[in-house]
Amino acid sequence: MSSIAIDGPAGAGKSTVAKIVAAELGFVYVDTGAMYRAMALHVLGRGADINDASAVAGACESADISIERKNGEQRVILNGEDVTGRLRTEQVSSAASVVSVVPAVRAKLVMLQRELAVKENVVMDGRDIGTVVLPDAALKIFLTADAEVRAKRRYLELIAKGEEADEAKILEDIKKRDQRDMTRAEAPLKKADDGVSVDSSDMSAKEVAAKILELWRNRSE
Ligand code: DC
Repeated sequence: MSSIAIDGPAGAGKSTVAKIVAAELGFVYVDTGAMYRAMALHVLGRGADINDASAVAGACESADISIERKNGEQRVILNGEDVTGRLRTEQVSSAASVVSVVPAVRAKLVMLQRELAVKENVVMDGRDIGTVVLPDAALKIFLTADAEVRAKRRYLELIAKGEEADEAKILEDIKKRDQRDMTRAEAPLKKADDGVSVDSSDMSAKEVAAKILELWRNRSE
């Protein structure tokens, strides 16, 4: 099986780009952030203190997370319930970043992610795909963009959905999340040694996808 790993900070455009690349190559897109979000939802639902690592590790044991596909879209199933529609709130976003520092959470989800990549050709996005989950991925992309650009994208996304949004607050949250994701002890967000950096600040998702497809075609294997 072949895989493409796309890692990078929140809002760099990973999922949009990964979906285009996967569709183009006939690969399956796997969104690993959604699994951490489902875990956060589980921990919050159990009333555990997300800042207490042992409480999170305890709650994590009773989480049964799996992935299904419906009309080509990834659905996340938590304890038998499709929770996909509940994963994108700001509360879950920030809790996911907090619970994802806990080693027991990572161990459980990394195992699930590897199982998926054994069965199918995947484009998998996250923070540690190229460094930890799929160290043998055929292509590893580290996708970045300036924090201001990422905050603006998120702001426009929310406004387009008719939701209220405060751009300054979004920027502050993004910076906090970057800091937490990059400085944690376990599997911090960083470029794999053999990864290729792509800065999407001045590129559209289509342009980034085209760049990745070009790298894929020209890869040396
Ligand atoms: O990609 P996302 O915003 O949906 O991810 C939510 C959080 O999950 C993010 O703040 C960090 C964590 N995460 C992780 O630690 N490792 C991954 N492979 C994917 C996400």
